Amino acid sequence: MPDLHLLYCLIYCSNASRAVHEVTLFPLLRKARHYNQQANISGLLLYANGQFLQVLEGPEPALSDL
Ligand SMILES: Cc1cc2nc3c(=O)[nH]c(=O)nc-3n(C[C@H](O)[C@H](O)[C@H](O)COP(=O)(O)O)c2cc1C
Repeated sequence: MPDLHLLYCLIYCSNASRAVHEVTLFPLLRKARHYNQQANISGLLLYANGQFLQVLEGPEPALSDL
């Protein structure tokens, strides 16, 4: 049973199904930041050479929902 008061951290790497351009990356980031802020989730998103690395930190239920 997860402790709702603890912060959890999720780190993953994924391959983009196609090349991602800045033009599509910025709206994605804006959406993600907006949603994450509401859900008390922080983190970072890196994109390079067709791969994403994302770090997400927040309460377990919020991370599972995301
Ligand atoms: C690599 C990657 C990371 C994402 N990270 C988040 C995130 O942290 N929070 C979030 O709400 N959405 C995240 N999203 C989802 C985007 O904000 C957006 O909802 C998704 O790309 C679909 O956009 P669309 O509904 O406009 O097609 C992520 C999407 C991708 C591809």
